[in-house]
Amino acid sequence: MPDRKTIFVLNGPNLNMLGTREPEIYGRETLADIEAACAAWADEHGVRLDFRQSNREGELVDWIQEARKSAVGIVINPAAYTHTSVAILDALAAAGLPVVEVHLSNIHKRERFRHHSYVSRAATGVICGLGSHGYVLALDAMARLAGGRRPARRAKKARRR
Ligand code: DQA
Repeated sequence: MPDRKTIFVLNGPNLNMLGTREPEIYGRETLADIEAACAAWADEHGVRLDFRQSNREGELVDWIQEARKSAVGIVINPAAYTHTSVAILDALAAAGLPVVEVHLSNIHKRERFRHHSYVSRAATGVICGLGSHGYVLALDAMARLAGGRRPARRAKKARRR
C-alpha cells in the first residue's frame, strides 16, 4: 500500500545474535521473533515497517539518512554504538524525525560504561529494560509522535499542488 506511513526500526551490532547471545541478559527471543511482533503491530495499525539490522556503524548512518526522506519516524536499538557513536547521534539529529531509542536490557543496571548514551541526546524518548516488549511500546509511542506526519518528499509534492 504506497500510501502507508513507514517507520524505520533499526538494530545495531550483535542483535542478529539474539536468542543465543547472553540469554540471561537479552532473553531467548531471536531478532526474527522481535521483527514478527513488530510486523503484527504494524498490520494492526495500518503502518509499514522497514525493519533492519547491521553490524556496521556507517550502514546505520546511511539508513538514518534514508529515513529522513522516506519515513515518519525511527525506532532504534543502536546496541553497543549507543555508548560510542557521535556519528549516529549526528545522523539522528539531522534526520528531523521523532526517534525512540530502545534497549532490551536496563542499561542503567549494568556496567558503568553502558549508563551513558550518545543517542539519547537525539531521542524523543527512551525505553529500556522491558525486553522485546520494549519494541512494541516504542511503536505505540511512535504512532502518537508521528501523528499526521508524512515523509519529507511526499510532503513537498503535496505543497506544490
Ligand atoms: C543493548 C544494550 C547495549 O549496551 C549493548 O551493547 C547491546 C544491546 C540492549 O538492547 O540492551 O548490544 O542495546
